[in-house]
Amino acid sequence: MKIGILTSGGDCPGINATIRGVCKTAINHYGMEVIGINDGFQGLLNKDIQVLTEKSLSGLLTQGGTILGTSREKPFKKRGADGIDKPAIIAQNIHELGLDCVVCIGGNGTQKTAAKFAEIGVNIVSIPKTIDNDIWGTDFSFGFDSAVSIAAEAVDRLHSTASSHKRVMVMEVMGHKAGWIALYSGMAGGSDIILLPEIPYTIDNIANAISERFKQGKTYSIIVVAEGIQTPNGEKAASYITEEIGKRTGVETRETVLGYIQRGGSPTPFDRNLATRMGGHATELIANGEYGCMVALSGNDFISLPLSEVRGKLKLVTEDHDLVIQGHRMGVCFG
Ligand code: F6P
Repeated sequence: MKIGILTSGGDCPGINATIRGVCKTAINHYGMEVIGINDGFQGLLNKDIQVLTEKSLSGLLTQGGTILGTSREKPFKKRGADGIDKPAIIAQNIHELGLDCVVCIGGNGTQKTAAKFAEIGVNIVSIPKTIDNDIWGTDFSFGFDSAVSIAAEAVDRLHSTASSHKRVMVMEVMGHKAGWIALYSGMAGGSDIILLPEIPYTIDNIANAISERFKQGKTYSIIVVAEGIQTPNGEKAASYITEEIGKRTGVETRETVLGYIQRGGSPTPFDRNLATRMGGHATELIANGEYGCMVALSGNDFISLPLSEVRGKLKLVTEDHDLVIQGHRMGVCFG
């Protein structure tokens, strides 16, 4: 068999480990040929490919980013509007390249595109990838643990400067519309206030929580805020919270936006093994002819879910999540 592999959407630590997991399993265990497709679905449009061999894979396990490059190309968007039927061209190119199946590594947008290709008869197997951890159907996506690890270390560092200056430090983390990175890094870093898109907040509640801490002699506070929280006029999360809290409490407040640092560098060991297992199980599905599905982590087992079930769904934090419940009980303010 000859398979293609592409990476699409935002990059994150662990993508190269996944590529390695697919390729080593495909080449060593199943005797498959593997074709790397450059820059996501754009590479299928332009037949921009590279042959992947054992040699291509050395050093990939620990390397951040993606050796294939990525893009946010959405072939089905405005299909045919400019007279070009991108999905049809891609399906034809897959045929001409002699690919029996294409492995798509990506986030929600990629899963939606993969589902549409599966619907038009293209053999697809997808792997959930995102630091946001918002892909429905899988307990975790690789990239998430690495982003949490980076963000939690940043929170640790903010504690010392906050206590030295008796300040409120506000740190904004990524996560798109979900609050998973903020929840996990905020709790891991011992933050006093954690603001998530999924849980409503008021400035009064936050200000009261800070004042209450002062009364208990705690002269500084750490706030971790997810980028996707609601703000009155679409203000950026950290700058809005920093300004409002400074005004309301009179305490010196400073903001940090962690940004793309959360998506850089080497994956954590957890993500390396999750990526490796996701890649291996995806290849097993191909060998078994099980197309049109996404590999997912369920507990400590790997399952496959029909892409038709996954597409268009988001996995968001719920108020009954155990970390939220434990945080509440310990006095963390969720807004
Ligand atoms: O989906 C991953 C992510 O990093 C989000 O957390 C963030 O909002 C978005 O990508 C940023 O997109 P871009 O890389 O296109 O700026």
